[in-house]
Amino acid sequence: MKPTLAEKIDKISNIFEIPKIASIKVTDGYIQRYYKINQIPYSLFHSKEDLAHLGITRNGVFTKDDLTAQALFVNKYVKRTKASRVLELATGRGADASLLARKNPNTKFYGVDLSEGQLYYAYKKATKVKNYFPSQGTYQDLSTFENNSFDVCFVVEALCYSTDKKTVLSEVYRVLKKGGYFIVVDSYRSDKQLSNTELTASKLTEKGMALDSFEKYSSFIKKAMEARFKMELEEDVSKYVVPNMERLEKVASHLFKHPHMAKPLVKVLPNEFVYNAISGYLMPNLIKDGVAKYYITVLKT
Ligand SMILES: C[S@@+](CC[C@H](N)C(=O)[O-])C[C@H]1O[C@@H](n2cnc3c(N)ncnc32)[C@H](O)[C@@H]1O
Repeated sequence: MKPTLAEKIDKISNIFEIPKIASIKVTDGYIQRYYKINQIPYSLFHSKEDLAHLGITRNGVFTKDDLTAQALFVNKYVKRTKASRVLELATGRGADASLLARKNPNTKFYGVDLSEGQLYYAYKKATKVKNYFPSQGTYQDLSTFENNSFDVCFVVEALCYSTDKKTVLSEVYRVLKKGGYFIVVDSYRSDKQLSNTELTASKLTEKGMALDSFEKYSSFIKKAMEARFKMELEEDVSKYVVPNMERLEKVASHLFKHPHMAKPLVKVLPNEFVYNAISGYLMPNLIKDGVAKYYITVLKT
């Protein structure tokens, strides 16, 4: 029998100070530090191919190919619009954008990301993929890009970091051409009323991933409509990310099996690294219990 959320919170409290983690103030500086410290852990535990997101597994058995589902989905819209210019918000290590750039040599792919720790890998890719242009910046400010200049904009597992999605949405609306697409693949809180245990688990998962809080999907969509986007397509793919989450949970659970050894260990390791194990441990329960959701959303200008 797999442990319940309450049992997991109990195990976490044997090692960590829950109130201390729940009260972390996540700033851009914290996010940058998190991605610097987790450079090697992400490569080891997540994806050697630099795909810093979950795989979408539609047949129940996770394979590495599932990590390219997001890029292959975006590719359909690059082809449909015969895109000349595409923008990726939070391009991370550049795995998705460079894959797409290779598939579409006549399209220019631009990427912005906040973290130098991530961009280190993206810049390396850009030396080999000549139509991929990553740069440092926040997606809250796209002023370096002109109005109506992109056919497609996309963001994978990163808009959740924004505490001002209204600004991001209006910036994306501005830089997209009329009839352009904004593709968002991300995690959210569900609309259900959460119990105290579920709230604590959500909070710990968020802070462990260096984000302030997951927004409710309904609230995000309301903002998108207020920013004048039209809904083109939405799919709740929550159940398809569970196989990948369960792999990460397996790695993380080693820490919680041996609290006597783990407690002194986590004291000497950086918080931004060890707190990530808490997210890995809790995530499958949050999805299976309907607390968190994972959506593919396509908005149109
Ligand atoms: C989970 S990673 C996803 C990276 C990439 N999209 C991928 O799927 O591989 C989240 C990324 O969001 C970036 N990020 C967070 N806040 C940001 C902001 N305000 N502007 C730009 N990038 C941001 C982080 O630096 C990190 O690279």
